[in-house]
Amino acid sequence: MMRVAVFISGRGTNLQALINVCAEEDTPAEIGLVVSNRPDAQGLRRAAAAGVPTVAIDHTTYDSRASFDAALDAAVRRARCSTICLAGFMRVLTGDFMRAWRDRILNIHPSLLPSFPGLNCHARVIEAGVTISGCTVHFARPELDSGPIVLQAAVPVLPDDDAGTLAARILEAEHRIYPMALKLVAQGRVRVVSERVRIHDAAMAGDVLVNPAGV
Ligand code: GAR
Repeated sequence: MMRVAVFISGRGTNLQALINVCAEEDTPAEIGLVVSNRPDAQGLRRAAAAGVPTVAIDHTTYDSRASFDAALDAAVRRARCSTICLAGFMRVLTGDFMRAWRDRILNIHPSLLPSFPGLNCHARVIEAGVTISGCTVHFARPELDSGPIVLQAAVPVLPDDDAGTLAARILEAEHRIYPMALKLVAQGRVRVVSERVRIHDAAMAGDVLVNPAGV
């Protein structure tokens, strides 16, 4: 069993999707710890309801990023977790932390990376006028929202979308691909080779998504 620590900051719907996939028989992973930098995060209650151990590590009580990250690192090791999933964790981690956990940190970001990294990506997607956005699960590297891509889902942007409606449509796709990615990693089917991901025996999509779809 691969033991996973999930880092959150908020509502934890992706955490819930990861909890759910770990309950499936063919997922050799279990969530050993949920860490939140916000003591009031709704996701902590989801974890508790699922019987998963939780800890709040409040970044505002640390005087440096290094000491905050050291506390995260200690908690993950104490829980004997070998993999970290960032699931709406809204703190930037130090390069030292990222290097210590290289190829063992997964992140989800609600755009088709490398386009639109960073905060408020949905508003920027709409502003740019692109008609397809989506979400990305990737191994995290020190630079924000970068690293080898495991899975992506393409999601249409509709003419009347605002950041909220687009975020909601993309969130549904997130809940599909983050569990898929964690299962693939837990099954030992994912390798990083020359900064690209190779997935053993993956069925690749055959369809083209065109948007607008027709006139
Ligand atoms: C998700 O949309 C996730 O992709 C995003 O925050 C949301 C968390 O929702 N993460 C980022 O923007 C990180 N760059 P959740 O707490 O319900 O899973």
